[in-house]
Amino acid sequence: MAWTERLTLAERAAREAGELLRTKFGRHLQIRSKGVRSNLVTDADTESETLIRAMIARRFPGDAVLGEEEGQSGSSGERWIIDPLDGTTNFTHGYPCFAVSIAFEVDGVVVVGVVYDPLRDELFVAERGKGARCNGADISVSKVAELRDGLLVTGFAPFSGGEPPNLALFREFTQRAQALRRDGSAALDLCYVAAGRFDGFWESDLHPWDVAAGALIVEQAGGSVSDYRGTPFRLDGRPIVASNGAIHDDMIAVLKDMA
Ligand code: IPD
Ligand code: CA
Ligand code: CA
Repeated sequence: MAWTERLTLAERAAREAGELLRTKFGRHLQIRSKGVRSNLVTDADTESETLIRAMIARRFPGDAVLGEEEGQSGSSGERWIIDPLDGTTNFTHGYPCFAVSIAFEVDGVVVVGVVYDPLRDELFVAERGKGARCNGADISVSKVAELRDGLLVTGFAPFSGGEPPNLALFREFTQRAQALRRDGSAALDLCYVAAGRFDGFWESDLHPWDVAAGALIVEQAGGSVSDYRGTPFRLDGRPIVASNGAIHDDMIAVLKDMA
């Protein structure tokens, strides 16, 4: 079954929400913490989610929606999964790396994924079984064959204190890969793996809205996505490793031993 109408709406909503974020970027924001100190939310996050939800409700009123800021509404198996602003910490500091992420799933299977970077005007999209594209051009994962030649990226979930568990892995991969980055938007990290800009990504404490769209985009670009043991990735599982496939087993070998 084709989900073209949902894909078209996801693209339009991501672009409109991205435009909203672009106009708010660098301006005065109301910033609040939710839960732990490093978990921020701004009026840009909430306004973006409101805009996306309104577009969905107008066109597909029966669909359920899970959004980071407003939670779950509706109970249909046809469900949207939204991160209205992925990279809020970057956004609040004026660091130009953030995105809108919109996925659509049917009975637990993600069939459409869209991630929009409004500052670079890059729209990453995938529909299950139909490949992945950036601004209309096909994308595919890199051909890097060895971990030691790979550029990896990771992220640190908001944490309340002590040493972040990911630090030991960061140290280990620093020694094994060519180089590491920490950019602050899991959705873009995944899209950059899909586009061959990064060769691998791992993070341990993400939510469905961070990864639903990006994981599909990686898979449709020919990459691999799993948990830290190599089991195929599930949306309700937290740890994720995404790669070009060729270096996947080498990343799993490290993650399985240390995480
Ligand atoms: C965060 C970003 C970041 C990741 C954090 C997420 P948010 O999402 O994706 O890259 O490291 O774990 O919480 O809060 O900016 O939507
Ligand atoms: Ca996020
Ligand atoms: Ca967010």
